[in-house]
Amino acid sequence: MSGKTTATAFAPASVGNVGIGFDILGFAVDALGDRITVKRAATPGVRITAISGVPEELPLEPERNTAGRALLALNVAVRPSFGFEMTIQKGIPLGSGLGGSAASAVGAVVAANALLDRPFEKIDLLKFAMQGEAVASGSMHVDNIAPSLFGGLVLTVGIDNPRVKRIPVPQGIRAVIIHPHMFLSTREARSILKREVAMADFVWQTANLAGFISGCYTDDLDLIREGLNDVVIEPQRKKLIPGFSAVRSAALSAGALGCSISGAGPTMFAWSPRDSAEAVRAGMVAAFASHGVEVDHWVVPVDSEGARVVAD
Ligand code: HSE
Repeated sequence: MSGKTTATAFAPASVGNVGIGFDILGFAVDALGDRITVKRAATPGVRITAISGVPEELPLEPERNTAGRALLALNVAVRPSFGFEMTIQKGIPLGSGLGGSAASAVGAVVAANALLDRPFEKIDLLKFAMQGEAVASGSMHVDNIAPSLFGGLVLTVGIDNPRVKRIPVPQGIRAVIIHPHMFLSTREARSILKREVAMADFVWQTANLAGFISGCYTDDLDLIREGLNDVVIEPQRKKLIPGFSAVRSAALSAGALGCSISGAGPTMFAWSPRDSAEAVRAGMVAAFASHGVEVDHWVVPVDSEGARVVAD
């Protein structure tokens, strides 16, 4: 018996896609995240008792809630004699492109797992959390779930049998994260994407993803710079973000290795050597400001540990 009757998990935000790895690559951003508390209850089943931290009302019915759906998936797999009661404290703005729905789903299963007599491995928790992500975005992508759960920069291959690989990030790399104060629906940002990719773009995108990952493994910043260039998704979505081109140019002129859209947007991210990270941040903030867009901003290392149980 785990002995625990209540547990709180912190699940970090994340940058999905990282430009070139649509739906398969992402990194965790520990600077913000969701906190989920799960308690054992006498009556079996899953209930959400409160949601705080966001201005909008989110559904309390577990089936319609990302954290609820993830916990239902875990509950079906365990069928414990007790129930789960959950409270959700959102720390990630909705519709920001920072993996808020993924973090809630991950936090729910990590907290519940701490109450089980025989806890699951993280790879099983990933599969439960994926069910939750599907509620929010209408598709089962893993590029936010996996980094929120495992931490750092993570590649996930496969959906039914996902294989997760944490990719090493060269020392001294910083991620600059700029969150414009606007809402963008992931569903909408997915619905505008064309179903076909031109052969030339396919070749470039494959080369860029392979180059980026090889650069990470070999500490080759030039290869990372060359690879961090999304020729498929970014050109289609950039019109959804006011000031996108100015912000990207500002980041690159200030020394960023690359700059693109975080997940479905509107948040933008850049990777930068530590020495130029503050200049990159300042350039991106100023470029958004010149388009009348207010932002929040962070400069973070790409080495967080992922979701974890914390003090209540
Ligand atoms: N990979 C997803 C997308 C992330 O870009 O639509 C959404 O959070």
